[in-house]
Amino acid sequence: MSKLRVGLLFGGRSVEHEVSVASASSIFRALDPSRYDVVLVAIDQDGRWHLAPPALPPAAGMQGQEVGLPAVPGERALVSASGEAAVSGLDVVFPIVHGRGGEDGSLQGLLELAEVPYVGSGVLGSSVQMDKEVSKRLLAEAGLPVLPFLCVRHAELARDPGGCARRVLDALSLPVFVKPANLGSSVGIHRVASEAELLPALRDAIRYDTKLLVERGIAARDIEVALLGNDDVEASIPGEIRTNRDFYDYEAKYVDEATELLVPAPVSEELVQELREAAIVAFRALEGRGLGRVDFLVDRKSDAIFVNEVNSLPGFTDVSMYPRLWEASGLPYPALLDRLIELALESHRTRSALETQYRKG
Ligand SMILES: Nc1ncnc2c1ncn2[C@@H]1O[C@H](COP(=O)(O)OP(=O)(O)O)[C@@H](O)[C@H]1O
Ligand SMILES: [Mg+2]
Repeated sequence: MSKLRVGLLFGGRSVEHEVSVASASSIFRALDPSRYDVVLVAIDQDGRWHLAPPALPPAAGMQGQEVGLPAVPGERALVSASGEAAVSGLDVVFPIVHGRGGEDGSLQGLLELAEVPYVGSGVLGSSVQMDKEVSKRLLAEAGLPVLPFLCVRHAELARDPGGCARRVLDALSLPVFVKPANLGSSVGIHRVASEAELLPALRDAIRYDTKLLVERGIAARDIEVALLGNDDVEASIPGEIRTNRDFYDYEAKYVDEATELLVPAPVSEELVQELREAAIVAFRALEGRGLGRVDFLVDRKSDAIFVNEVNSLPGFTDVSMYPRLWEASGLPYPALLDRLIELALESHRTRSALETQYRKG
């Protein structure tokens, strides 16, 4: 059997650039060279794509030859600035690019136009999972438990800041969490415990997005479940994140070495079942495909569960929660990658077989 040519896309313009480089490096090391011919494509901080030499460390690839993926159906080639094919015959793309421009559906849109199979959720799934406010509405509509929330928009905050603050305080009791709707890594997120902190928090968060999600804050454990599959979705065992900070903020994610990942999460068998079932419903409600990680907030006192968010492109280093949950559920990292690539090809085949013209049935 000939090898599959896999385009591994990483880097990107978000604050998660470094995480993405680390994820790509783990994936590159784990992809079986007898089955895959891996093409490393590094996206720099300006959003430009570079062909990286197929050697570690991939971060060095940011200086490689500049290429692009033309949105021409079926060509599946990366071309240089002069228009010549630098790489042809891409069989599948593994886009491991986080944040805006990577996991928000725009990259998926380019891959759709180019008709290249790719790992993970499509345009719609990626963009709704990225938007915390739209996703909360869909999760609630699916009957899943979510914390009470409301939305504050840029124009309203600029016009009537006092009115915005009152609307929040009338609807939700303190503390609340203020979050930019389309960001990750806890950037711009504030826990607000007093009325005086509310407006400064709204004003800070709105620097990152034109829309904010404000929701009731609870004393909660962060518990996560990994999902895998297209139509038949499987949920992993849950894992827990422990930090000794106020919440799982930017420092806890990337700086503080005291942050711990507990796999499996120390919870009752009943809670495990409840979390796994809710995770599958959440993944489906938000059009998940291939992979995803559903993050829960579990009330420290009552054990009540709330869906916090669904991540279409979870961190993928070999010590990240997503692969660790599968490892602990019996699926080792290299086999997980094989499965994700199979799922990408399967989904592409199914969608390519659809009629594109009206034909009387
Ligand atoms: N409503 C809430 N109540 C309690 N803690 C929260 C709430 N919302 C968020 N958090 C804490 O903040 C962290 C980051 O929030 P999250 O919505 O997951 O943003 P991000 O997309 O940046 O990860 C969560 O992991 C959790 O620790
Ligand atoms: Mg989160």
